[in-house]
Amino acid sequence: MKEIHRSQLTLDPFSLIGGDWMLLTAGTKENGYNTMTCSWGHFGPIWASDTTVAYVRPQRYTKEFVDREELYTLCFFDGRKKELGYLGSRSGRDEDKVAAVGLTPVFEDGYTYFAEAKMVLVCRKLYQAPLKEEYFLDRETLEKNYPERDFHDMYVGKIEKILVSE
Ligand SMILES: Cc1cc2nc3c(=O)[nH]c(=O)nc-3n(C[C@H](O)[C@H](O)[C@H](O)COP(=O)(O)O)c2cc1C
Repeated sequence: MKEIHRSQLTLDPFSLIGGDWMLLTAGTKENGYNTMTCSWGHFGPIWASDTTVAYVRPQRYTKEFVDREELYTLCFFDGRKKELGYLGSRSGRDEDKVAAVGLTPVFEDGYTYFAEAKMVLVCRKLYQAPLKEEYFLDRETLEKNYPERDFHDMYVGKIEKILVSE
């Protein structure tokens, strides 16, 4: 992996996040880590920072790690939809799902990513808040996505480092 500057990025966030999906990972070798597939999120500037936004429902095991750590990573892959589908339908509470799909965790100081990724965004949490029922302006969006009212927490993270495969 090599580090690049944000100005070197050319990407389409709609197909990258929504179409190809990503892995949200938090934790360390020493204290444990977990990962899950996400297909909702954003990239963009706010507060004089380049940021990502990710959405995590309360029942995800990964949330415990994102809440505990200062850093999280977003990993993007070429293909690997079968592996991402698995990581997005099983819980790390029940099994070593990373071993099951054969991805290789790379442990750094305070964060973890996967060696097979084509791009890794290392993010530092700036803001976290739960989505709230009373703030939905569109009833259909609320009912369609939250029939059980398990509202996501949104996490805004400052992009600290961008790694790409060589
Ligand atoms: C394509 C896809 C996209 C997903 N996107 C999200 C998401 O953006 N936010 C979320 O909370 N869960 C999302 N999920 C569900 C989690 O990845 C899934 O519940 C996962 O098993 C949680 O694992 P964990 O309990 O080990 O954290 C998605 C699942 C798939 C398959």
